[in-house]
Amino acid sequence: MSNHIFITKKIESFKKKITVSSDKSISIRSVLLASQAVGISKISNLLESEDVKNALKTIRKLGINYKKKKGIYYIEGFGLNGFDIKKKTILDAGNSGTLARLILGLLIKSKYKIKLIGDKSLSKRDFSRVIKPLRLFGVNVRSKNNKLPIELLGSHFLRPIKYYENIGSAQVKSCILLSALNTPGTTVVKSKKSRNHTELMLKFLKYPIKIQKTKTFDKISIKGLNQFKAFKYNVPGDISSASFFIVLTLLSKKSQLTIENVNINKSRVGIITILNKMGAKIKYKNKKLYNGEEIADICIKSKDNLKSINCSPKLNSSAIDEFLIIFLAAAKSKGISKFRNLGEMNKKESKRLDLGINFLKLIGIKIERFGNDLNIYGNPSLSLSKSYEIKNFLKDHRIFFLSCIAALTLGGKWKINDKKSANTSFPKFLKIIKMIGGKIN
Ligand code: S3P
Repeated sequence: MSNHIFITKKIESFKKKITVSSDKSISIRSVLLASQAVGISKISNLLESEDVKNALKTIRKLGINYKKKKGIYYIEGFGLNGFDIKKKTILDAGNSGTLARLILGLLIKSKYKIKLIGDKSLSKRDFSRVIKPLRLFGVNVRSKNNKLPIELLGSHFLRPIKYYENIGSAQVKSCILLSALNTPGTTVVKSKKSRNHTELMLKFLKYPIKIQKTKTFDKISIKGLNQFKAFKYNVPGDISSASFFIVLTLLSKKSQLTIENVNINKSRVGIITILNKMGAKIKYKNKKLYNGEEIADICIKSKDNLKSINCSPKLNSSAIDEFLIIFLAAAKSKGISKFRNLGEMNKKESKRLDLGINFLKLIGIKIERFGNDLNIYGNPSLSLSKSYEIKNFLKDHRIFFLSCIAALTLGGKWKINDKKSANTSFPKFLKIIKMIGGKIN
């Protein structure tokens, strides 16, 4: 089957209700925590994307069995450090930074050397951010240039750490929290605000964890070596996947969309705050709490006259995976939008800041870049008529989705490569686009 698509027509106006794929961050965490629980956990609505399949393959390689029956994943854990690790184990995290960084935390007692590898994109990403705290715990970690492949040999003389996580990375924070599970004593991490699903899940599991919040940091104290029981979890929809449909609706003519059952955890909804500041009027309906997470239906209507934004860097962490699609909204709004300190975007599946800028240039948007700061000159009557080809983006799923939304809302004749990249996070993407009337060839 070909790995590219053509889009040559804007989407017609639509009025629909959809559900997007389940949350990737929560899916991976639920699989990893189930592997450490005592008994059989039951996870429904698990995201069936490449990243999550790699998480399932990883725990299976470590001796944890699972099966799927009537849409529910049954995962049998044997408690903390219940892995059955074989000599010369090689784990492949594929494209997933979250899986790679979190699983390292669960391996810190491994009695054999484990090798962790990943695909071409993941092998270019920085692991010093987790290697540093892991070594403080007492783990033996080896890697060339702080990149994959990594070799890890666990220790039985682990010590709790006090760590200041100042990147604002949930992956680093979570690697530390998962390491702390198998470490005696209390580990304390002072962490710049980032998504907090790991803490919320541990709380939901009644694990001894204490969270003190300030405006910019969370101080998390976690006591090691406490077992927790198997659990049931129903994974909600992913705001990161929803974001492409939110902007699709905003930039389309006379359209309305409801996206049901989406996780609207405060640490994730920077995109809603930003778009509403731009005048979008996105609303939540049917809000409810689920195991510490907040869930709602998101209601969006087209908006002809979005205005520009001077985006506070305080919102960066809660919108970190959504900036590409936010840039597209900025390109079609009135005035100059300003974004600052976006360096972390270049540490993702591709150098997303660089590629996002190339993308905006390709469609003729005036931009100014000062290091990691960006000004986008918006144009509310932006409309495209030329031919565009999107290729060489390290198969970054979010660049693929962005390109589709640009083609469907701005016009032009598009060839978009690496269709399969959608399987990383949002396998249903093209199916939903077609269901609401998008023409894809
Ligand atoms: C994720 C955290 C973020 C995000 C990634 C998923 C997670 O990365 O970009 O897509 O599930 O913890 P950082 O924690 O490195 O910012």
